[in-house]
Amino acid sequence: MQPSLASIRERARVLLDGICRVCPVCDGWRCPSGVPGMGGIGTGAAFRNNIAALAAWQVNMRVLHDHKDQDLSLRLFGKRLAFPILGAAVAGARVNFQGRVSEEELARAFVLGAVEAGSLAFTGDGPLPELMDAGLKAIKAVGGRGIPVIKPWEDMEIMALIRRAEDAGAVAVGIDVDAAGLVNMTRAGQLVEPKTVEQIAKIAGATSLPLILKGVMTVADAEAAVEGGATAIVVSNHGGRALDHTPGTAAVLPEIAAAVGDKIIVLADGGVRSGVDVLKMLALGARAVLVGRPLAVAAIGGGAVGVRLQLEALADDLAVAMRLTGCGDLNDVSKGLLRPIHN
Ligand SMILES: Cc1cc2nc3c(=O)[nH]c(=O)nc-3n(C[C@H](O)[C@H](O)[C@H](O)COP(=O)(O)O)c2cc1C
Repeated sequence: MQPSLASIRERARVLLDGICRVCPVCDGWRCPSGVPGMGGIGTGAAFRNNIAALAAWQVNMRVLHDHKDQDLSLRLFGKRLAFPILGAAVAGARVNFQGRVSEEELARAFVLGAVEAGSLAFTGDGPLPELMDAGLKAIKAVGGRGIPVIKPWEDMEIMALIRRAEDAGAVAVGIDVDAAGLVNMTRAGQLVEPKTVEQIAKIAGATSLPLILKGVMTVADAEAAVEGGATAIVVSNHGGRALDHTPGTAAVLPEIAAAVGDKIIVLADGGVRSGVDVLKMLALGARAVLVGRPLAVAAIGGGAVGVRLQLEALADDLAVAMRLTGCGDLNDVSKGLLRPIHN
């Protein structure tokens, strides 16, 4: 019999004791850990800003219309997805989860669970090669339906990892450019670093895979990503784990989407907890969203089944939100269905 999402979350609460309280709504207020762990960096403000920025918008209810069936599907990176909700890169089981789940179990749960739900997941990277190894293994096992996110190592190391992503048949490849501040992160003598437009252009030009830059929070960086030939950006502050006091992603998404939305695919993450949150991100200019912590909880409590159930629950919730705002499909979602909370 299929376990319930509630029982999966209960199991995760026990397994994550002292690391994550598995709160009813994951909002960064009661995190027992920062980074490493499940919380945000420093004061945790950047994590909480993500939640607050989404909460600053209300939705206009529309119930007199003829959109009786909701179509949530879209094409992304050449694949058909059942809905615009993807698994974010969550890695580092040894440091973030104190080894209570293995790196391979974590990556497999995200990638397989997302595929079984009809979507896609990203995988992560870090100083230990086991992170990238686990992600690529999980992606290869599902015929390449996944996206590895590489740390901003020196270019030679990035290129070597991109070749491995190509060999695994990955749909696309990402670089979490916002990890450039992790100054003590080294791998085989390689350091992470900020990237210039020229470096991005060289990397983008050296692979046939779509290149995604994750961790873009300003119009200037978004324009640099376009100039460097990236296929997509993820408007993200790494779940508030890169730099304390960054704004919520939903606060900066509209200006970024307005500047580059017709030149590059804009994705977003940070604090997405419900179908209404997904709808808000789409209305603010994202083509699709990534979800991190709630899926990590589901993965730890229920493996791939947990991830699938959590993604399906979010998609069901999005369908209801679309129905009650007059949207038949994703093309109907526009900024007009939102109103700022102070009005
Ligand atoms: C425990 C943990 C580990 C993460 N590891 C990575 C990683 O390896 N690479 C990466 O690009 N982002 C990583 N992230 C950030 C997520 O991909 C994503 O940007 C963030 O979690 C989204 O916010 P949310 O958790 O509020 O949904 C990690 C996040 C968490 C919580």
